Amino acid sequence: MERTLVREIIKNEGEKIILKGWVAARRDHGKLVFIDLRDRSGIAQVVFSPGFPEAHKTAQDLRSEWVIQVSGKVKERPASMINEKIPTGRFEIEAEELVVLNTSETPPFPLDESGDNIDEEVRLKYRYLDLRRERLQKNIKLRSEFVDRMRQFLFKNDFTEIETPLLTKTTPEGSRDFIVPSRMYPGKFFALPQSPQQYKQLLMVAGFERYFQIARCLRDEDLRADRGFEHTQVDIEMSFVEQKDVLAIDEKMITTVCEEMGKKIKQKPFPVFTYKEAMEKYRADKFDMRTEEEKKDGVLAFAWVVDFPFFEKDKEGNWTFTHNPFSMPKPEHIDWLLKGENIGEIITQQYDLVCNGYEVGGGSIRSHRADILKAVFKVMGYSDMRIEAEFGHMMQAFNFGAPPHGGLAHGVERMTMILTGETYLREVQAFPQTSSGRTSVMDAPSELDEKQLKELGLEVKKK
Ligand code: AMO
Repeated sequence: MERTLVREIIKNEGEKIILKGWVAARRDHGKLVFIDLRDRSGIAQVVFSPGFPEAHKTAQDLRSEWVIQVSGKVKERPASMINEKIPTGRFEIEAEELVVLNTSETPPFPLDESGDNIDEEVRLKYRYLDLRRERLQKNIKLRSEFVDRMRQFLFKNDFTEIETPLLTKTTPEGSRDFIVPSRMYPGKFFALPQSPQQYKQLLMVAGFERYFQIARCLRDEDLRADRGFEHTQVDIEMSFVEQKDVLAIDEKMITTVCEEMGKKIKQKPFPVFTYKEAMEKYRADKFDMRTEEEKKDGVLAFAWVVDFPFFEKDKEGNWTFTHNPFSMPKPEHIDWLLKGENIGEIITQQYDLVCNGYEVGGGSIRSHRADILKAVFKVMGYSDMRIEAEFGHMMQAFNFGAPPHGGLAHGVERMTMILTGETYLREVQAFPQTSSGRTSVMDAPSELDEKQLKELGLEVKKK
């Protein structure tokens, strides 16, 4: 006989079935033993009675999180026992046979509650248990559904999914790189990508015209509730487009996917604010436009922010880009950039998507001309040699018929946070970092042994 999933039992009244799963709870009433059996589809009540003595006897030994296989008949519960709170609450399984597939130690924390009050380090040390709780199962599945729907939309609109390298050269996104030492070239290093920005632009030069990737991005940044070392982007790039085209297709995608997932959007089309307007009205470039009522109802309030200044002064008083250096200035400001004039007033064709107080996406129309890209680095005080060493490959590529192009990327975690109403990134990632910057479950970062260090040509100086 094949296994039945818990959610299916409502269709199997009177039939004999097999369930497999975990013991979520056990209530021993002496004569009758009740088990809540949990599998990926839900929870069902199983009753062991002395009528089936062997199963009844084994049931008395069961403990939380043991893994079991039960066979028995699906019966309607007596009226007084119906539990309206769970989908299977009108039924139970009268167990005839019980097989223990595995035992379990007592879990270090309860799994039948939200988990909010449990110490983060402990939750993440035992993340594989923490993930068994209903809230996290829901969040992780909803994330998967979100990515699936985004993918389907993009495929329907003629985009090609293309993977780009993880071992690469630095791509400035305003954060620090994670560095990987090279064994074949001791003393040299790869950088893990802060985003696939340069590769996706090279794919435009390569003529794909519509690219997307569910891309892992790695940034060594100060950790916050909505910011991790690792995040995932729905990363998009298109050729022969202007800003309005990118915003239009993206807005259609976000609207379609969020509405398919049962969400209400506050305002359509999304309102558009210039950076200046946003700063005047909200004193921030990300803001929450919802009323208290809308917050309660889980409404999504999207808005575009456009017309960002291209450059700002860094702590040392030097010009640096506000978003990324690959953006195109507004057409009327290209001349200023090329001449190095009015730097603080140059506006870039950069756009952010905000929702419920978070920045959930951002992108730009790119400069597809080598001279414009070079001018950006010149403003930032880079020498010709440095520009050539770090970005010569981009300028060379642009010299081979680069089409006008632009795109954007959405943070998958941020989008999942607003869809689930969670306020921490870790609630929508399977294995997040701890807030002290360590991995879940596995103890990293950790030391290398002497042999590995030698192979990599590395020596660790004691601090
Ligand atoms: P940006 O740096 O704005 O743009 O990132 C795009 C989106 O990714 C999310 N995000 C993060 N989420 C969690 N943790 C982080 N540390 C983190 N950093 C960013 C945000 C953000 O809006 N290459 C460009 C995109 C482009 O221009 O096409 C880029 O990476 O939701």
